[in-house]
Amino acid sequence: MNADLSLLLTIGLAMIAFATTALVLLVRGDLAPSRSGGRWFLGAALGFGIIAFSIKLVIIATLSTFPGQTIAPLLPDPAKTAPTAWLGDDGWDLGPKHYVWKPLPMVAPAPADNPTTPAKVALGERLFLDTALSANHTVSCASCHDVGAKAGTDRRPTAIGITGVPGPRNAPTVWNAAFQARLFWDGRAGSLEEQAKGPPLNPGEMGMPSFAAIEDRIKAEPTYQTGFADAFGAGQPITMDRIVQAIAAYERTLITPDAPYDRFVKGDPQALNAAQQRGMWLFQSVGCVNCHAGPNFSGASLIGPQNPYAPLMASRSEYGRRHDLTADKGRAPTGAKDGIWRIPSLRNVAATGPYFHNGSVTDLKEAVRVMATSQLNAQISDDIAQRRVPMWSADKTGFDVTTRRILSTRDVDDIVAFLGALTSDRFAVQ
Ligand code: HEC
Ligand code: HEC
Repeated sequence: MNADLSLLLTIGLAMIAFATTALVLLVRGDLAPSRSGGRWFLGAALGFGIIAFSIKLVIIATLSTFPGQTIAPLLPDPAKTAPTAWLGDDGWDLGPKHYVWKPLPMVAPAPADNPTTPAKVALGERLFLDTALSANHTVSCASCHDVGAKAGTDRRPTAIGITGVPGPRNAPTVWNAAFQARLFWDGRAGSLEEQAKGPPLNPGEMGMPSFAAIEDRIKAEPTYQTGFADAFGAGQPITMDRIVQAIAAYERTLITPDAPYDRFVKGDPQALNAAQQRGMWLFQSVGCVNCHAGPNFSGASLIGPQNPYAPLMASRSEYGRRHDLTADKGRAPTGAKDGIWRIPSLRNVAATGPYFHNGSVTDLKEAVRVMATSQLNAQISDDIAQRRVPMWSADKTGFDVTTRRILSTRDVDDIVAFLGALTSDRFAVQ
């Protein structure tokens, strides 16, 4: 129980004890029936007062046990009064206090018209790896999304398709894309099925002339007939819709609910070391969770808080301006100073660099510095004494204290250590 509340209850109980004693003395003295009735009246009023006051105390004590409701928000926050050991005395008290961390579900949700079945997944995997989906038979989905060694990306700043010329944007990982409600850096696709129709026709990626041309390629390969029959039923024609349904079903199996972070929130306190735990808390208190929220660390997920897009305010920060992050504006209207982008997932982020829509940042620490300064208006400095700025107020003859977001080198390191805990064991550097 809260310290202030205990004090309140103690004083209350002392007052009840005092009043009860007074009442008993009064009533005892008044027991003789010959005495006047006025004091009886006083005694009865006091008695009612004690009962009413006791009921009030019981109500206060009961209400205060409901977290986040009733009067609890008015009372001092226990999270603030009892810092954990690794928190130190850095004085961070910004950001949402009661953020609830959750593990990734063990299964990705699938739309009603495309349930994930083993036959469809097997067919989808084959299509994902097949260069027949590209005009000159040189590029498959996996060329840009290597789901093994490259954690679902190509590890290039921007992707290279059939033309051999680097395209405009970085290839994000396909791992855990199954949890995203919006796909692509600018979020222009609303499902994996819709997304998978993009690359085959993109002249810079796979360069096929039409969906019909893709269907003909797949039909021409006899072994695909059985694969489609197994997945969609005998006699069903091979169509672009079924091709993308199979690919999407396969992508829904590319999920990583096995990161140290997941083990930690499921109850293994050893899963994260001290630096990672501190980084996790900074990720919350500094405000990263405002955008990278929920179990997939993205507001654009099918799970967790919904907040798909955010401006990338790179123009206001020295770190942001270094990396040419405002040339491509994403969803923002032309003429806007900064771009607007889908908030990407940070799962496996330590293994999926280079970073941002243009792949301009190779170092994850630098990516965190860009985010902290442009998105949260924080400063990067080791002079952490500057976090609290006392200003003397002559009127009040007292201090006003403002708190500034200043991240030290250690803070950035710890946030990066935490981001490392979002890496699945399968990509962990041994
Ligand atoms: C030439 C490289 C290349 C090829 C081939 C390619 N992609 Fe991509 N993929 C990209 C790039 C680049 C993006 C981001 C484009 C953008 O946001 O504008 C992307 C985005 C995606 C996304 C969205 C991920 C997210 O988090 O939003 C998925 C899913 C995806 N690709 C799956 C596929 C599939 C399935 C195929 C095969 C049909 C494929 N890709 C072929 C480069 C490629
Ligand atoms: C206001 C919303 C917002 C906040 C707050 C925010 N981010 Fe981001 N973050 C984004 C957006 C949008 C992008 C995508 C930018 C782009 O298009 O290149 C992004 C991208 C990233 C990336 C690169 C991901 C990749 O795959 O390339 C990292 C890493 C990242 N954020 C970490 C953080 C950290 C750490 C914090 C807290 C210090 C933070 N972000 C705070 C919105 C936010």
